[in-house]
Amino acid sequence: NIKGFIFDLDGVLTDTAEFHYRSWQKLADEENLNFNRQINEQLRGVSRMQSLEIILAGQEVPTAQKKEWTDRKNEYYQEYLAELTKKNILDDMEAKLHQLKKAGYKLAVGSSSRNAKKVLKNLQISDLFDTISDGNSVERAKPAPDLFLHTAEVIGLEPAECVVLEDAESGVEAALAAGMIAVGIGPAERVGKAHLVYTSVSDIDFEEVLTKI
Ligand code: G6P
Ligand code: MG
Repeated sequence: NIKGFIFDLDGVLTDTAEFHYRSWQKLADEENLNFNRQINEQLRGVSRMQSLEIILAGQEVPTAQKKEWTDRKNEYYQEYLAELTKKNILDDMEAKLHQLKKAGYKLAVGSSSRNAKKVLKNLQISDLFDTISDGNSVERAKPAPDLFLHTAEVIGLEPAECVVLEDAESGVEAALAAGMIAVGIGPAERVGKAHLVYTSVSDIDFEEVLTKI
């Protein structure tokens, strides 16, 4: 019996996945690191430092240097965030959130991003959520189930009562590990392990989600 929905943020509620990509690309170009859109696919849902580790692909770099690089990437990303407004909400997600809320479901955000609260504020949808879990909420990042389990606990729901919406492979894995229903958004190669898959956010049909699972 589904009682709540936990939304990933980047790539599900808003188009910021593209800004994360551009910020990493800028850093990679400056530092001659091998990076492109294809490598970027592996960074969805992955924490900032872990993302850099994936880009480095085993290349050894001093800790202080890694810190400087991730800080710089975040500066570039925050330049995009300064321009972020309601227009950056994906498709009709806001209307869908209102419908779910009206129907009595608990709504939450479960994002790996330490910028999540700022993003939601700029999108002007913070108030729609019963709780917002972000990159500061738990230690172990996705694909560990911790972030989603923590989120369910805060809103007082059992894992099996929650549906997670995710555009990242690591996020789908985290939802499944948490014992929740996973709805994947994107190509099957990325989110195919989810219980239900939609190609894009605009295709999500919550009536169908609730009847099919
Ligand atoms: C999300 C995004 C990732 C990003 C991570 C950390 O999960 O999908 O691409 O690396 O958040 O974001 P942050 O804003 O803390 O650097
Ligand atoms: Mg995402």
